[in-house]
Amino acid sequence: MAGDDVHYYEPRNGHGLRHDPFSAIVGPRPIGWISSRSAEGRANLAPYSFFNAFNYRPPIIGFASVGWKDTVANIRDTGEFVWNLATRPMAARMNLTSAAVTQDEFALAGLAQAPARLVGAPRVRASPVNFECRLTQLFPLRDKEGAELESWMILGEVVAVHIDRAMLVNGVYDTARAHPILRAGGLGRYAGITEDAMFDMNRPAGDEDAAAMVRALDAAPDA
Ligand SMILES: Cc1cc2nc3c(=O)[nH]c(=O)nc-3n(C[C@H](O)[C@H](O)[C@H](O)COP(=O)(O)O)c2cc1C
Repeated sequence: MAGDDVHYYEPRNGHGLRHDPFSAIVGPRPIGWISSRSAEGRANLAPYSFFNAFNYRPPIIGFASVGWKDTVANIRDTGEFVWNLATRPMAARMNLTSAAVTQDEFALAGLAQAPARLVGAPRVRASPVNFECRLTQLFPLRDKEGAELESWMILGEVVAVHIDRAMLVNGVYDTARAHPILRAGGLGRYAGITEDAMFDMNRPAGDEDAAAMVRALDAAPDA
């Protein structure tokens, strides 16, 4: 930290700010826009921004539900769900699907369903990417004393992927093309990804590569 003017806090004693900065700091976060189906066959759709990808082969994604919610119950009961990419044109409808309502959120938000191929949960038809997933793990989070929290982690293997070909450029998926939206903070802040937000940086491959990168940094420290 460059200076001494630091706001320090220990979360168990409160943050001392007008709003908890935690989710604004760990942000923007991709949105797990999760569709599922109840054991009785009722469709459900809800956004979860405590969400990310955790493995390549097989691909595994996961999200955390703060409290036992319909999505969690549905996935426990059926073992299946679909992740849908949330984009700028669909932002308001995505937001609507977070309403705590008894009605099916697809209908509430005016979103058409599309059938999945390998799982029973429906896809969001207008979303340019859908992952069909099978539940691999569902467990409560624990605090540092080991006590189980009323928050649940759900991990699922991606068993099928649907990509709108308009998102592919010469066979490469172009992240910015879909204008994905990400959650950025507690006050309803979001970030939208467009081409101007992107930049490229290759990983250091080994000793020689890393040394070359260090030399380049020494020559231009702010690069
Ligand atoms: C952008 C966004 C992100 C959210 N992220 C989470 C989250 O990570 N965990 C959570 O428990 N609730 C989250 N919520 C709230 C849920 O979407 C909300 O509780 C919803 O009603 C749950 O639906 P369900 O009961 O049908 O599963 C989020 C809401 C929005 C708008």
